[in-house]
Amino acid sequence: MTTGAEATGRAQTGAVEERGRSRAALPAELQPKSISEKEFQNFQELIYRTSGIWLAQAKTALLVGRLSKRLRHFGLKTFGEYFRVVSNDPDEFTRMLDLISTNETRFFREPNQFDFLEQRVLPRWIAEAEAGARARKVRVWSAGCSSGQEPYSLAMTLLHHLPPSAGWEIEIIATDLSTQVLESAKSATWDFSKSSEIPDHYLKAFMLRGYGEQVGKMKAGPEIRALIRFFN
Ligand SMILES: C[S@@+](CC[C@H](N)C(=O)[O-])C[C@H]1O[C@@H](n2cnc3c(N)ncnc32)[C@H](O)[C@@H]1O
Repeated sequence: MTTGAEATGRAQTGAVEERGRSRAALPAELQPKSISEKEFQNFQELIYRTSGIWLAQAKTALLVGRLSKRLRHFGLKTFGEYFRVVSNDPDEFTRMLDLISTNETRFFREPNQFDFLEQRVLPRWIAEAEAGARARKVRVWSAGCSSGQEPYSLAMTLLHHLPPSAGWEIEIIATDLSTQVLESAKSATWDFSKSSEIPDHYLKAFMLRGYGEQVGKMKAGPEIRALIRFFN
């Protein structure tokens, strides 16, 4: 243990020196900006009020790292100046939210939730519909849908279990505050490498493999695309 800790300590010292050297080599306008406590609080409150995202103090480096390039873009020296820009320019405000949101996603990202849906929720809905105790209509909201993997995973699951041929109507609403990921979700196109996240029977039934200019891509088929509506 001691040896490992010492080794880690030495490696870290080396990294700091390395970072120090490379930072000194950067021209002033490319060096990372710093943010005052008050400036951070202003962003923290604005972002929370408008999006519900709470950036804890520990996220200071994340905010600085993701927004510094916008200060450089506008030729600004402080985050206080950039705060005034986002407060007065709705487009820049949207861009800022795009930059600070974390959009990690995968198809069937939370397997337990999809198992619960398939094994508990859907059989109950089907039984209730057969008993005349519920309509054969389902409306689902993917809140924070990122680049679409979640609503399309839902679409494949629901369409498989609740087919229109049995009278089911499915509607999926997908929303995200990031306009960038939403555009990507609307395109319903992903790198083909993501196909490994999708169970084989769904992949074969609902996804299209790109060819020609689209080689290496995968696109959602029309049956599942028709189920989803996207909103910002
Ligand atoms: C970590 S991703 C998760 C994506 C997807 N739900 C999944 O589990 O695979 C969170 C997404 O929620 C979005 N988001 C965060 N706060 C939001 C809000 N208040 N309104 C809409 N979208 C929000 C982010 O932009 C991001 O794309």
